[in-house]
Amino acid sequence: MDHKQRLIKEALTQRLNAYAPYSGFKVGAALLTSKGEIYTGANVENSSYGLTVCAERIAIFKAVTEGETEFMAIGIAGSGEGYTFPCGACLQVIAEFAKDINIIVVDDSNNIVEYALKDMLPQAFSLQK
Ligand code: THU
Repeated sequence: MDHKQRLIKEALTQRLNAYAPYSGFKVGAALLTSKGEIYTGANVENSSYGLTVCAERIAIFKAVTEGETEFMAIGIAGSGEGYTFPCGACLQVIAEFAKDINIIVVDDSNNIVEYALKDMLPQAFSLQK
């Protein structure tokens, strides 16, 4: 199985672990490190809505707090019709670690699209000028 298929499979599986009782919108994410390992995440909501954390950021934070900071690609599986692309906050968090990463998104009919982060967030904020 190539890395794209692995990420999609893991993102779909991880989506089952989403805690989304308020929106009902479950998202799974799977992040590939340069070592070939995969870190997963799912969205975790809260009754104080603004405390919700997206699937993508959970995956990144899990990896970073395990000492991994080099990422090759991220797979995302959302809910409903169409593709679930990362929100702006998640794009910024991804850009902190991986400016050249590709973002792979699967819909519920198993269609897959892939975009470069650079195309989705061409001017990420950075303290380094
Ligand atoms: N969500 C994600 O997990 N990732 C995104 O990129 C966009 C939105 C979650 C947050 C919330 O739990 C639900 O989707 C609806 O906004």
